[in-house]
Amino acid sequence: MLASVALKQVGRPQVLAKVTTATQTRNIHDVTFTKKNGQPLIRQGLGGRSSTNGHIATVFGCTGFLGRYVVNKLAQQGTQVIVANRDPDESRHLKVCGDLGQVIPLEFNLKDRESLVECVRHSDVVYNLIGRDYETKNFTFDDVHADGARRLAEVCAESGVSKFIQVSALNASEDSPSKFLRSKALGEKYVREIIPGSTIVRPSIMWGHEDRFLNKIGENEGWQYYVNEGETKIRPVSAIDVAQALDIMLTAESTVGKTFELYGPKEYQVKQIFELAREIAMKPLPIYPIPNVGIKLIATLMDKLPYNQMVSPDLIERLKMDDKITPGALTFEDLYIKPTDLETVAIYFLRRFRSNAVFDLPYEKGEGQVQKGVYHLID
Ligand SMILES: NC(=O)c1ccc[n+]([C@@H]2O[C@H](COP(=O)([O-])OP(=O)(O)OC[C@H]3O[C@@H](n4cnc5c(N)ncnc54)[C@H](OP(=O)(O)O)[C@@H]3O)[C@@H](O)[C@H]2O)c1
Repeated sequence: MLASVALKQVGRPQVLAKVTTATQTRNIHDVTFTKKNGQPLIRQGLGGRSSTNGHIATVFGCTGFLGRYVVNKLAQQGTQVIVANRDPDESRHLKVCGDLGQVIPLEFNLKDRESLVECVRHSDVVYNLIGRDYETKNFTFDDVHADGARRLAEVCAESGVSKFIQVSALNASEDSPSKFLRSKALGEKYVREIIPGSTIVRPSIMWGHEDRFLNKIGENEGWQYYVNEGETKIRPVSAIDVAQALDIMLTAESTVGKTFELYGPKEYQVKQIFELAREIAMKPLPIYPIPNVGIKLIATLMDKLPYNQMVSPDLIERLKMDDKITPGALTFEDLYIKPTDLETVAIYFLRRFRSNAVFDLPYEKGEGQVQKGVYHLID
C-alpha cells in the first residue's frame, strides 16, 4: 500500500514534465493574422488531417459533385471546414473527411442573409461552388449564379473574410446565347465589384466518379444520342484536379484577384468521348445524332413538364458550344498542377458499366499508366 502511494507520488512529476514539454512546441511563428478583422490563425501539430493549420473555410455548394473533393482536400491538411448545406443529411458523408470536430455542418438559405452571415462569421476563406444546371420554380439561373453570388460576396465583405473563391464556368460570358453562362458571367462581375481580390475559377466540364458526363454516357441502355453531330469540341477536366487547384488557393497569395481557367490537357470532339466510352465499357450501342432543330423542340416541350431536370433548351445551347479558352488566362500550369489525361484513367469510371462477361478484361492504356503511379484514385 505504502509502496503504491510512493509510486504515484514519484510518477506525477514525470507526467507533468511531459505535459510541459508538449505545450512548449507552439511557437510565435505558429500564429498569423490573415483575417481582415485581425482574428489570429493558430497552427497546431505537425501538419495533416489530425493537425490544425489555423484556417477556417466555409464551402457553399459542398453537397455537390466537386464539393466533396474540395472539403476532403481542405480537411486533409487540417483546415476547419464549415460545410454549408440545405439539408443536413446531404452533408453527412463529409464529416469523415476531417478529424473529429474539424468538419462542421451549418444550414443556410441563399436568400436569407442572416443564415449566410452565420456560416461565414468565423471563416477567413469562403468558397462558392453553388451552381445548378437547370432552373427550378424557386430559383432561376440568375437567383443562383448572379444574385446568390452577389449576396454571398456582400456578406463576406462585411464579415472581413480575407479570401473569396468563386467557381464559375468556362465559356461564361455576358453575351452568351446560354442563360446559364450569362448568369455565371454576371456572378463573376458582381463578385469582383464587391471583393476585387476574389479569385474566379472557370472549370470546363468535369469528370469523376459522381459526374454527369461519363456516367450519363455509360448509363445509356439500348441506344445513345448526341447533339451537334457530336462535333462540339470540349476539354474535360478531372474534378480532383480542380479540387487540388482550389485547395492551393487557400494559401497561395499569388491567386488573389486572378481568374483561372481550368481545363484538361486534350481537346476532344464529343463523339470521340463517346467512342472512348464505348470501347472501355464494351457497350457498342447504336448512336443516333439528333438534329439540332429536333432536339431543341423536344427540349422545349420537356421543359414544360414539372420537375424536368433532364433537358432544357438552354442545356442544348451549351452542348453545342465549343470550349473557348481566353488567351493568356491563368491555368493549371500557374499552380504547378499537371492535369490528368482522361484516356489513361477512364477505365476506373467506366468499368462498372461493363457486363459480367467482360468485367475483368484489362484496358491496357489506362491500367498501364496507373500502375506507373500517374494517377491516384483516392486522393
Ligand atoms: N460539373 C461540371 O461539369 C461543371 C462544369 C463547369 C462549371 N461547374 C460549376 O462548378 C460548381 C460545382 O459543380 P458541381 O458539378 O459540383 O455542381 P452540383 O453537383 O450540381 O452541386 C451544386 C451545389 O450547389 C448547391 N445549390 C444549387 N442550387 C442551390 C440553391 N438554390 N441554394 C443553395 N445551394 C444550391 C447544391 O446544393 P443542394 O445539394 O442542396 O442542391 C450543391 O451543393 C458549380 O457552380 C457549377 O456550375 C460545374
